[in-house]
Amino acid sequence: MRRFFTLAVLALAFVACSQEQIIRVPVPARPAGQKDVIGLTAPPLDTVRIGVVGIGMRGYHALRVLPAVPGAKITAICDLREEAVKKGQERLASEGQPFAQEYYGEEESWKGLCEQEDVDLVYICTDWLHHAPIALYAMDQGKHVAIEVPAALNMDEIWALINKAEEKRLHCMMLENCVYDFFELSCLQMAQDGMFGEVLHAEGAYHHDLNAFWHEYWNNWRLDYNSKNRGDNYPTHGIGPICQVLNIHRGDRMERLVSMDTKVCNGPKMMKFYAGKECPDFAQGDETNTLIRTAGGKTMLIQHDVMTPRPYDRLYQLVGSDGYAGKYPVQQLCFNQEMPEEVDAEHLPLEKIFTGDELKALMDEHRPAILTEELEARAKQVGGHGGMDFTMNYRLIYCLRNGLPLDMDVYDLAEWCCIAPLSRLSLENGNMPVEVPDFTRGAWNKVQGYKHALAD
Ligand SMILES: NC(=O)c1ccc[n+]([C@@H]2O[C@H](COP(=O)([O-])OP(=O)(O)OC[C@H]3O[C@@H](n4cnc5c(N)ncnc54)[C@H](O)[C@@H]3O)[C@@H](O)[C@H]2O)c1
Repeated sequence: MRRFFTLAVLALAFVACSQEQIIRVPVPARPAGQKDVIGLTAPPLDTVRIGVVGIGMRGYHALRVLPAVPGAKITAICDLREEAVKKGQERLASEGQPFAQEYYGEEESWKGLCEQEDVDLVYICTDWLHHAPIALYAMDQGKHVAIEVPAALNMDEIWALINKAEEKRLHCMMLENCVYDFFELSCLQMAQDGMFGEVLHAEGAYHHDLNAFWHEYWNNWRLDYNSKNRGDNYPTHGIGPICQVLNIHRGDRMERLVSMDTKVCNGPKMMKFYAGKECPDFAQGDETNTLIRTAGGKTMLIQHDVMTPRPYDRLYQLVGSDGYAGKYPVQQLCFNQEMPEEVDAEHLPLEKIFTGDELKALMDEHRPAILTEELEARAKQVGGHGGMDFTMNYRLIYCLRNGLPLDMDVYDLAEWCCIAPLSRLSLENGNMPVEVPDFTRGAWNKVQGYKHALAD
């Protein structure tokens, strides 16, 4: 009997232990004298003077979109390659913009741009490895920073950006454009208007066959990075829009994640074809899936696949207690109908699905306050991923000019970027759950509900 009791206690202890099995990630103490930057505002800027670093595909595109934004002025541009800077100057001229101070030639030529007096905002469009070092240096020079996705690659970079933004009281925003697509903005508004009931589960992804693009990247940086790093290396387009709907660090927070990936199949073939290199130890699986659970009992599924011929999509699905939104392959909204008074086989409460014109009418009815008809028309005219690039830059400059909190803060940057290093940790430890740190260090519940700031 006693032996049975001992075994039973041991078995229970094992269950308790196994339920506790999670990889805990250290949270560095906040440096003395610092506080969080939730709702951070900075003195309004009449004109926002911008220095753009990295004039490759994305930076070159920014030189067309930024000048179209009222109150934005490009005063400096920088790239390692002289020819990229010269091409950038031509683009500025063709947009009717004055010559910008130029920097090129040295690995750290960007330091001069960060130090330039008439630069208020350093706008970083380099390859991923340069993002955090340039942003940290720029903030040390007293500049706000806007960084292309993903802004940070590992936990050290993420905490360094948070600490620097808190220390300097400067904006450090990731340029996550997908939160500004019209469908996502309208669904965010509908969720806030209660149309989906309680949103319980959401999905986001980056499914983009990059086969046609690998050769375009400077020095093969992107394929090279994927060859060395397992995990979801490009999570922010998928997770950004759904975190806003789920009010992450505005009443809820991500608690844990688990990742699984497929075996490696196409990566080494791409390396052979585009870089002429054998790469038997290519790190990134063709498909990576990450499941996240929040403190409020919600779940998210994030997927990454840049290797297979699957058609482009970012999933974007919201599953609520009373409604559903899905973007691909066709936009759909779906709502529960009212329950009848009593169970009646002839009048069952079937869901109603909206597509096409009916869906458009609903979206118009729930037009977010920031997306005026005028802004939407201008965004479509200027373009850039269908208009979302213009809307993102418009909002960034509008908030800086009005001294408002930005739509995305440094904690959004941290939460969206941490999926790469934390998914890697889960994958490399037999798909163990990994704790997602509270990047606000205790302030995740201070604000209730995601909000875009608007001037009076
Ligand atoms: N948000 C989006 O929709 C979107 C789309 C495409 C790319 N991106 C992001 O934009 C960034 C740039 O991507 P890309 O496609 O333009 O890549 P790219 O390879 O075309 O451009 C990178 C540029 O960085 C420059 N560079 C490298 N080292 C430098 C240094 N030390 N100093 C200054 N410049 C340096 C290179 O010369 C090159 O011109 C990446 O972070 C990428 O993920 C975002």
